[in-house]
Order: sequence, then C-alpha cells, then structure tokens
Amino acid sequence: MKSYSKIIVFFLSLWPIYLITYQIVFNQLGPEPVDRIINHFGEWTLIFIFLTLSMTPLRKITKSLEWIKFRRMLGLFAFFYASVHMLSYVGLDYRFDFEPLINDVLKKKFIFIGFSAWLLLIPLAVTSSQKMVRLLKQNWKKIHKLIYVIAIFGVLHFIWLSKTIFFKPLIFLILLIILLLFRVKITKSASKI
Ligand code: HEM
Repeated sequence: MKSYSKIIVFFLSLWPIYLITYQIVFNQLGPEPVDRIINHFGEWTLIFIFLTLSMTPLRKITKSLEWIKFRRMLGLFAFFYASVHMLSYVGLDYRFDFEPLINDVLKKKFIFIGFSAWLLLIPLAVTSSQKMVRLLKQNWKKIHKLIYVIAIFGVLHFIWLSKTIFFKPLIFLILLIILLLFRVKITKSASKI
C-alpha cells in the first residue's frame, strides 16, 4: 500500500497534462490558444505550490505522517509545471527569441516576479533528494522555507497580471494567508517545546 499511494498521486499529478492534451486534440482551447496554454500551466503551478505547502498542516490536523511522503513529489511537479509554463511563454509567445523576453522580465513587474519565483524553485528542485537532505542538514530546512516566498511571489504575479484581485487571485490570496498563518502557528508551538 505504501508505494501504491505514491504511484496514484504521481498519475493524478499528471492531470493538467491529460486535460490540456484533451483540449488540444478536441480543439477546445478557445480563441486564444497560446494564452490558454500559458495560463493553464501557470494556474496549475500555483495549485501544486499550494498542495506542497498543505502537506505539513494536513499532517498536523490528521496526526498522520502519510502526507509528508508526497511533499517532495508535489514540489517537483510544481517546478515541472512552472518550467512548462515559462517555456510555453518563451516558445509559443516569442518563438524562443530571448531579447523581448529579457525586456519583458525587466519592464513588466508581473513577469519579473514570476521569473523570480521560477528561479527560486531551482535550488529547491536541485536539493530535493534524500541525499541532499543528509548533506545539507539544518541548511536544507532553511533553503526549503523559500517555498513560502515562492508562493507569495506566485500570488503577486497572478494579482498583477490580472489587474484585479477578483476572483481567482483572491481565492489564492486567501489560501496563502491561511497557509502562512498555519506556518506561524506551527513555528510558535515548536518553539514552546
Ligand atoms: C512559480 C512561478 C510561476 C507561477 C506560480 C505562475 C503563475 C501564473 C498564473 C496563476 C497565471 C494566470 C493564470 C490564469 O489567468 O488563469 C500566470 C500567467 C502568466 N504567467 Fe506565470 N507563473 C510563474 C512563472 C512565470 C514565469 C517564469 C513567466 C515568464 C517568464 C510567467 C509568465 C506568465 C505570463 C506571460 C502569463 C499570462 C499569460 C496571458 O494571459 O497572456 N510566469 N502565471
């Protein structure tokens, strides 16, 4: 059972790929297919960042260690979807012409913050293995706290690009606040021990 649950979560995590493939094959991407693909992967990146952040609160609430074994996989999926999101923007919007991309990163604050979030995900992905946990010891925890900064950047990216907070960005903002409050609560109760 132990390894089956991981396999199930792995295949469920591929849902965004099944979904977009279906929409491409059955011509359901709407009038702006490129934007649809970029937005699809952007939204799923944020969902996977939030799923990763939810594992520790779920462990506390349910008093079950089961959740923690999915955390690394979900985090790697967040990095994977962020990279597909970024590459579909660079590849489909700019045909891999990096000059306008660099201009966008420097001039548009929502691209700048999205790009920063993606850059910050790299050290987390690189140090996600068990070997790295052992090698980095206490520093590993410090590095992986970056996921909170990434979540904040991701939500800001969404709010700024939407130019309004209603409604999806607001939902993500509320979820972010709940997860951050959990983090503060967990840190406080750990410091009391
Ligand atoms: C952790 C990193 C990132 C997260 C969480 C993220 C998240 C999102 C979300 C939630 C959306 C809006 C989806 C919607 O409207 O339904 C979006 C759109 C977008 N993102 Fe990102 N993003 C990230 C990184 C990046 C990077 C690195 C770039 C480019 C360098 C980028 C460029 C864009 C663009 C251009 C759009 C708007 C597409 C359009 O409507 O035309 N994002 N992103």
